[in-house]
Amino acid sequence: MKFGYFDDLQREYVITTPRTPYPWINYLGSQDFFGLISNTAGGYSFYQDARLRRLTRYRYNNVPLDDGGRYFYVNDGGDCWSPSFKPMNKELSHYECRHGLGYSKIQGARGGLQVQQLFFVPLFFTGEVTQVKLKNETDQPKSISLFSCVEFCLWDAHDDMTNFQRNLSIGEVEVEGSAIYHKTEYRERRNHYAFFSVNSELAGYDTDRESFLGMYNGFEGPEVVLQGVATNSMASGWSPIASQHIKVELGPGEEKSYIFILGYVENAKDEKWDRTFQATGPVPINKTKAYKMMAEFATDAQVEEAWTKLQLHWDRLLGKFQIQTGDEKLDRMVNIWNPYQCMVTFNMSRSASYFESGIGRGMGFRDSNQDLLGFVHQVPARARQRILDIASTQFEDGSAYHQYQPLTKKGNNAIGSGFNDDPLWLIVGTAAYIKESGDFGILDEEVPFDSDPNNTASLFEHLRRSFYHVIKHRGPHGLPLIGRADWNDCLNLNCFSEEPGESFQTSGPSEGAVAESVFIAGLFVYAAPDFIELCRRRNLPQEANAAQSHLETMIETVLDHGYDGKWFLRAYDATGQKIGSKECTEGKIYIEPQGFCVMAGIGLETGEAREALDSVAAHLETEHGIVLHTPAYSRYYPELGEISSYPPGYKENGGIFCHNNPWVMLAETVLGRGERAFELYRKICPAYREDISELHRLEPYVYAQMIAGRDAPHFGQAKNSWLTGTAAWNYVAISQGILGVRPDYDGLIIDPCIPPAWSGYTAEREFRGARYHIRVTNPNQVSKGVERILVDGKEIVGNKLPLFSDGGTHEVHVVMG
Ligand code: GLC
Ligand code: GLC
Repeated sequence: MKFGYFDDLQREYVITTPRTPYPWINYLGSQDFFGLISNTAGGYSFYQDARLRRLTRYRYNNVPLDDGGRYFYVNDGGDCWSPSFKPMNKELSHYECRHGLGYSKIQGARGGLQVQQLFFVPLFFTGEVTQVKLKNETDQPKSISLFSCVEFCLWDAHDDMTNFQRNLSIGEVEVEGSAIYHKTEYRERRNHYAFFSVNSELAGYDTDRESFLGMYNGFEGPEVVLQGVATNSMASGWSPIASQHIKVELGPGEEKSYIFILGYVENAKDEKWDRTFQATGPVPINKTKAYKMMAEFATDAQVEEAWTKLQLHWDRLLGKFQIQTGDEKLDRMVNIWNPYQCMVTFNMSRSASYFESGIGRGMGFRDSNQDLLGFVHQVPARARQRILDIASTQFEDGSAYHQYQPLTKKGNNAIGSGFNDDPLWLIVGTAAYIKESGDFGILDEEVPFDSDPNNTASLFEHLRRSFYHVIKHRGPHGLPLIGRADWNDCLNLNCFSEEPGESFQTSGPSEGAVAESVFIAGLFVYAAPDFIELCRRRNLPQEANAAQSHLETMIETVLDHGYDGKWFLRAYDATGQKIGSKECTEGKIYIEPQGFCVMAGIGLETGEAREALDSVAAHLETEHGIVLHTPAYSRYYPELGEISSYPPGYKENGGIFCHNNPWVMLAETVLGRGERAFELYRKICPAYREDISELHRLEPYVYAQMIAGRDAPHFGQAKNSWLTGTAAWNYVAISQGILGVRPDYDGLIIDPCIPPAWSGYTAEREFRGARYHIRVTNPNQVSKGVERILVDGKEIVGNKLPLFSDGGTHEVHVVMG
């Protein structure tokens, strides 16, 4: 069952009922100012940091679900309703939400009045613009009251929901003209405030929540809206809001438009106050910058121009890679939604979604490196800075802070280090950046250790420390020690926690000299060739050779001690017992090592690779994707940790953890099995799951972290959409693995691995200052293999397209065979 449809031309998902199985959200903002918005206008806005600079309040865990947003109310001759359906929940004669790239349009109609709301954050603007258009569709004049309402958060979102003894006394606002200024804490150390304005005269306003709602009411029935009269309340403590009351007269067929701005302003310390103020009484805040922002969006023409610029911005980003395959679901994922989600993960990391509260985790070392794989071609310069930021949180011994804070860019001490896969991801991320950009110079950048500007080394030295961190931390079988956890944060083989609430990763010994990870070994073998290549290019042949021999040893070690007969083992625990082995009663086989070891090419010639992937198909694959391991753990095992804390089938305990499904897709392309790779792609890809939205529950346009596995009661149901490494890896799997358009150090490799039934596809790729028009044909219906390539009519040797860097367009014809 569907709740809407894709409008590919507009690059929108159109939701046709407010009763989606869960709030389906979108993101506003590209840099600094961001908002989350659901299909019923729920959500919140923040500046840079979702915890520390939260402008509007949102209550996770609330009932009713998804209450709190940027709300508009209509009182049309006593009939009160919301054009976004919520919060009043009155039936609408027409409802439609169009989530587009960086904007959402929500339309609601009732009683012959149509209201269209456009929400977006203009480029380079520290605020959210909402254009509200009201149209009288009857042949009678209408006298309407329009009310707005946003509830302010007292900046620190965590403090805001815990520290009531203070917070209920500190709220302060100013009202001037049609703008309401939220200046809580501005009197003391804050030098920033928010405002909510509209380009129209007001009939009144409210800034005190209870005056607007009425005591004990929710947003679904504000007294002021029901009465049709604002009270001009001034918040003093309690809960400041901004609500404007506008009287709208509409002739038959007439339309009027209003522009609201939720803005964020920072003033220098000595410019906080209005110096021109002569009267007595409290000195008003300096509003100069707010006035300027209001002037930028005072007319519809200004709004439309900014909105068009936003579309052009996305044209540029998405234009870097566009395909036409004849499969509309595939095209819309690759051309629109998957790269869009990758940019959202770039901006948000794992901070703010409807599953991440914006106050929890910072930026993950491993997550950020992997996210980069999905957006590096869109914003290479920003990817470069991201790599340097991440590398600055590495320690001298090569280990790394597991997370860092986006505002300070410093490592997070509460979690610390000891996740032994982390260092290797820096090699993976850096190599991807260099392959995209050709910028080998990044390796010479001086980068701090532990954010200490007095202790720096080149980025290349950081990569070297990453590489040798693994070599220096190997266990009894010669496999890498796992530490607190590897990619699977929940496989905690050194923790043994028995106390509720303890961290599974950081309590107890957490590190040990015995527990080893086959996954890290696979990741090492995957990353090592890039390190070796970079050594060679830096004219370090001896170092390259030494690294090469470590690589070969690791491959042998995996085959000797990391293979279990039909698949790769997952790990050895703290007592040397096998994890992910046929000998285990539960958790006999895991997905991660099958994916990564085969991606790395281990056992390709000797048959283990093929056997491992066949075992994935036989034991782990379901109709909704590949589960993380099987059988799921039926009880809690202290020696395994958090993984066994989840009920069977959820999250890391045998859920379909979408992040690592694409590893198996990529592994299948290494084997040349395009049919299999694409089949696995379709199983978890949201556009292909749109038809089962009632089961899947989450947005059909973006990936979710997890789909419940077959051991769960809600098998097939997704959770945790948007902020997941799934976005980047699926983008890599489809674009580089299956379609086979893969950046390399000195050229663009074309190496498709597609279902043999495909007759080919076309693509456009911008790469190092040239555009390639790529036409792939598959006359012999093969899955993999390139017979010849013509570039601008001339045959080239091999399958790497030459670099042109001439700003021109080059015609590429790839014949498979
Ligand atoms: C979450 C984490 C990621 C981890 C994964 C598996 O997605 O953000 O770092 O690899 O879970 O535990
Ligand atoms: C929990 C989650 C896991 C995530 C981790 C991040 O362990 O289950 O997915 O990676 O928290 O700290």
